[in-house]
Amino acid sequence: MTTQGTGPIAVFGATGQQGGAVVDALLGRGARVRALVRSPESDRARALADRGVELAAFRIGDPAPLEAAGAFYFMTPEANTPEETEQEAGLGTALVDAAVAARVPHVVFNSVSGAEHDSGVAHFASKGRVEAYLRQSGLRATMIRPTAFMESFAHVPMTVQDGVLVLKMPLPDGVGLKMVALRDIGTVAAALLLGAADVPGGAVEVVTDQLTGSQIAAAFGAHAGLPARYEALPLSAVTDAEDRAMFRWFALAATHPSDLAAVRAIEPGAWTLADWLRSTGWTAPADPARS
Ligand SMILES: NC(=O)c1ccc[n+]([C@@H]2O[C@H](COP(=O)([O-])OP(=O)(O)OC[C@H]3O[C@@H](n4cnc5c(N)ncnc54)[C@H](OP(=O)(O)O)[C@@H]3O)[C@@H](O)[C@H]2O)c1
Repeated sequence: MTTQGTGPIAVFGATGQQGGAVVDALLGRGARVRALVRSPESDRARALADRGVELAAFRIGDPAPLEAAGAFYFMTPEANTPEETEQEAGLGTALVDAAVAARVPHVVFNSVSGAEHDSGVAHFASKGRVEAYLRQSGLRATMIRPTAFMESFAHVPMTVQDGVLVLKMPLPDGVGLKMVALRDIGTVAAALLLGAADVPGGAVEVVTDQLTGSQIAAAFGAHAGLPARYEALPLSAVTDAEDRAMFRWFALAATHPSDLAAVRAIEPGAWTLADWLRSTGWTAPADPARS
């Protein structure tokens, strides 16, 4: 395992979901954290400062906030249009340039599972470009590639019909969807940033559970004390072309080997979907037949 520099761990995206989980895990391990933020006066930035995080104003092209950092974590923000994916790749490569200028000893890029393949998903390809740029930068680099967030189930239509929980997704049943809770993106990234773990080949798919539609429905049903059923929707039910490409990719990715064991070696307490559900206090929607 490689020892990191002694300076604070720099985190880009600390006010967001994934970067926030990374900050939680780093602080939980007693590390010093420096958040690179667009607006140090924002409520979310100030909340970080209240927890002992150093704030550094970040501007594209300015490596100063990375000076003397022990390691650097960055993610790239959500991108849905061709313009946004271009911006995403531009921001990612600018962050790599800043890390090169500041000679950061280790960079962890929060990419996405599928960035390393011809997935047909534009915002995976943009992350693939950032990965390639980082690899040729000469910096010591590690890619973490998260799978679908368990938190995304908050946006998946789930209903209760006649006492049965019904989950619908545009994914054939029998396909094992790879997933991870935000918390474990944080725990895995923190272990790598602090030099407590390393991954062969400098990349790891961050997956902590892999379940079919029926198994996902069953996990939600068990949590709610209800029987459950899964209904696979056709891909044509997805109106957005990028989302359609993503679900097509999820089905293909299920046939690829999974890094579940590698993630458990880094974080033995990584959450299954059932663990995540227990942490959320999730409750089933009302049953119209019984209300
Ligand atoms: N949903 C999934 O299942 C899933 C799975 C794998 C990967 N991903 C990827 O995860 C990424 C999103 O991560 P997240 O959910 O952690 O993001 P998020 O919660 O929206 O946070 C975005 C962070 O980026 C910062 N930021 C800096 N420049 C920005 C800009 N120009 N536009 C927007 N934000 C900017 C924001 O800071 P301020 O706004 O405070 O300045 C914030 O800290 C996307 O690239 C997505 O493709 C998603």
